[in-house]
Amino acid sequence: MRIAVFGAGGYTGKLVLAELNRRDIDTVLVGRDAGRLAEAASRAGLGTVPSAAIRQAAAEDHTVLAQAFRDCSAVINCAGPFVLSGEAVVRAALAAGCHYVDISGEQHHLDRTFAEFAGPAEQAGLTVVPGTNDDGLPSDLLAHVVAERVAPVRELVIGLDVVSGGAMPSRGTLRSGLENIDSFTTGGLGYEEGRWHADVAVRCTGLTFPGGAGSTPVAKFPLPAIVTVPRHVKARRVEGVANAQLVVSLAGLTPAVLDAVPEGPPADSRRNARWIIVVEATGEDGRHARGVIHGTDMQGTTALIAVESARRLVADGAPAGVLAPSQAYSPADFLRFLGEHGAQWSIDGPGATVRG
Ligand SMILES: NC(=O)c1ccc[n+]([C@@H]2O[C@H](COP(=O)([O-])OP(=O)(O)OC[C@H]3O[C@@H](n4cnc5c(N)ncnc54)[C@H](OP(=O)(O)O)[C@@H]3O)[C@@H](O)[C@H]2O)c1
Repeated sequence: MRIAVFGAGGYTGKLVLAELNRRDIDTVLVGRDAGRLAEAASRAGLGTVPSAAIRQAAAEDHTVLAQAFRDCSAVINCAGPFVLSGEAVVRAALAAGCHYVDISGEQHHLDRTFAEFAGPAEQAGLTVVPGTNDDGLPSDLLAHVVAERVAPVRELVIGLDVVSGGAMPSRGTLRSGLENIDSFTTGGLGYEEGRWHADVAVRCTGLTFPGGAGSTPVAKFPLPAIVTVPRHVKARRVEGVANAQLVVSLAGLTPAVLDAVPEGPPADSRRNARWIIVVEATGEDGRHARGVIHGTDMQGTTALIAVESARRLVADGAPAGVLAPSQAYSPADFLRFLGEHGAQWSIDGPGATVRG
């Protein structure tokens, strides 16, 4: 198995390289600056990488990019903002005969990927899974298994909290936030009565996050799972929320904030940060189920998830097309994997409590 990493020279790209190295997976580094790629290989602990595994290509040059992905079985795209270059990378991956995953959290990019590439991916017999990052994939899997307990679902709420522990998001994450600032100021897409639209007002105003003191005020937030979950969960409404303080801070992003932060948090402060996802599902009959998943090190978790997502597409196969994580992988099995790699989760509701 050989996996190409596009944007391998970036902050998360380097973590993905290190994870591929840890899993002993043959890796090709792709990006627009060969010097930065070589430096990334060394900083990610790959040692001396053969020159054939460092391939210079920008997203904007389709022919060169598709050629760079040749002889690889999958591409992991780490180059944000994805609304700017994501489409071009999916197109090149399909042209090269590669499965594709990315670490985007941008609703616009996910939405466009489903709209543009479902047909081409099916025709090529390849699988595309956007949004395999620390919140997109766990929340999609958790929503699937929680919803199963009360199906058919009347209302599904997906909530995010982040306890930074002093660790700032990476500069690339903030850059992508700025590029999608309309989503953060409006709260982005919701899902209601069979379609996605931006003017779905959220009803949930407070959620109980583990470790929090009682109910935490929440506000509408553009979670990637809002784009993916209705593709495999039959629900009348799906809404995304986050801790209201987080919503205010991201909606207030300015270019000056970008200039003031380092490329990304150092490893020791990453371990102090906590990500928490809560899913609350109410069935048409009023029954209720709740799921929680949480962990530390958002950026390291993103690398773990992206590599495992690409590896599973190649090793285990998945239906062709653009898929939500729960359509590409067994939700219960991937949740088990996350539980074995530092995340903790639980599901309560009708039936037995399950933990991982
Ligand atoms: N860190 C996380 O845990 C996490 C979690 C979820 C989502 N994400 C998302 O992941 C993305 C990357 O974050 P990051 O912190 O790794 O950013 P970063 O350090 O800025 O890295 C981005 C990489 O993408 C490359 N790139 C961007 N546009 C390109 C283009 N047109 N052609 C070729 N290369 C291009 C950059 O190349 P140059 O070096 O040449 O500029 C750089 O190597 C963001 O969208 C972020 O929101 C990250």
